[in-house]
Amino acid sequence: MRIALFDSGLGGLTVLGHARRALPDEEFLFFADRDHVPYGTKTVPEVRGFVRAAFRFLIDKERAEAIVVACNTATSVSADEMRRLYDIPIIGMEPAVKKALDADGTRRVLVTGTPITVRGEKLQRLIDTYDAKHLVDLLPLPRLVEFAEHREFVSPRVEEYLRDALRPFDLTQYSAMVLGCTHFNYFKDTLRNLLPETMTFADGNDGTVEELARRAGLTTLPEGARTARCTFFESGRRVARPEALARIESYIDRAERMELIN
Ligand code: DGL
Repeated sequence: MRIALFDSGLGGLTVLGHARRALPDEEFLFFADRDHVPYGTKTVPEVRGFVRAAFRFLIDKERAEAIVVACNTATSVSADEMRRLYDIPIIGMEPAVKKALDADGTRRVLVTGTPITVRGEKLQRLIDTYDAKHLVDLLPLPRLVEFAEHREFVSPRVEEYLRDALRPFDLTQYSAMVLGCTHFNYFKDTLRNLLPETMTFADGNDGTVEELARRAGLTTLPEGARTARCTFFESGRRVARPEALARIESYIDRAERMELIN
């Protein structure tokens, strides 16, 4: 099956690794809309336009048979519309609020995301459904997307940005940080140093791959060394230059290292 993963940028690579290892016999396409990243600080109509164009390219031109929207922001504003327009499995990503609340249920949960996701109705509905005890706090972290796209993962600027953003919260009261943007997984090492040990991370990456397999009628394999082949696109242009592919590989390596941090 030809399965496309789509993100505004390279954050979606943090989901792609799981998908390629769990479904090694499928054929993957990865689309990073690098001409328009970041999405999270733009207007909702703008983002909807970008997502429509990406879907047209992936389905009409590249014959994708299933699409994973590996972007919480695009899912928040466009997944319902895309499901109305296209009759293929479309799997979205939402911040792992339920997973974090289920894991503890008494201490607070800090849900991070882009401004569009954090303000969005979809997230509000999720919170209204699962957060009966009002344990959730929201924190937009838009600059992490910019840092990630510039491959600035560990630096005094990143650390200072996160320190300032976290300052208003008494983190000893929290059980988890929800990484509600696929770009944020790249910063788990810096975050690990800033958060108390009692806080864990929650993301929707594994759950999204399970959902993809279920919706597409595929069976996941235990993740091993074998990995599915993948073609990369940047806003509709196939990535072929060795330097550009090496850059993507460097993100994939980092994403794999970040997976080991809990
Ligand atoms: N990676 C995206 C997400 O999961 C969005 C980043 C952006 O473009 O602002 O929300």
